[in-house]
Amino acid sequence: MQENSPAVHIAIFASGAGSNAQKIIDHFKQHAFIKVSLVVCNKAGAGVLSIAEKEKIPHIIIEKERFFRGDAYVEILALHKIDFIVLAGFLWKIPSALIQRFPGKIINIHPALLPKYGGKGMFGHHVHEAVIVAKEKESGITIHYVDELYDHGKIIFQATCTIEKNDTPEMLAQKVHLLEHRFFPKIIEEVIVSQNIVKR
Ligand code: GRF
Repeated sequence: MQENSPAVHIAIFASGAGSNAQKIIDHFKQHAFIKVSLVVCNKAGAGVLSIAEKEKIPHIIIEKERFFRGDAYVEILALHKIDFIVLAGFLWKIPSALIQRFPGKIINIHPALLPKYGGKGMFGHHVHEAVIVAKEKESGITIHYVDELYDHGKIIFQATCTIEKNDTPEMLAQKVHLLEHRFFPKIIEEVIVSQNIVKR
């Protein structure tokens, strides 16, 4: 991307290994006007921070008090010209201050077919264990807008995978991860393009 070309700047919020963050970064590396400009993490030592470092993407570690009761890091996001926020394995609820500052411009990926298996405490292996215990025949991913409630905003996209009789939660997690990697970057791009938020 040329220095002065119009750009949409994405911040990826993540707390974990960052495999989705890596796919998103790869997807937008050569993009004409969409750029991953910041990685935001709430956990020192998280894999996603090493990815950001390796990719030379600015990254910050945020702390709870300031996020929930301070300025929600709105000023730092502004400093990096952030237009759009992608939650890729970020476990804290998003405070209203941030939702109001980025209306319709925060999206999340959930590793199950919402509205089932969502809400507080439904993250990571808890989700896949609950799906297996319930003997579901399929699971998948949900990409949705973020509002003030956990896993609640309008659904943008879902993709499914089949669950075989002897699948374990770990096996299901792998299938779901593959779907996430395959679809999340493309859907992010589609949403941003459809919103027409390029600054000129
Ligand atoms: C993904 O399964 C995502 O759906 C969930 O957290 C996981 C993050 O994985 N919310 P990774 O850190 O991107 O590998």
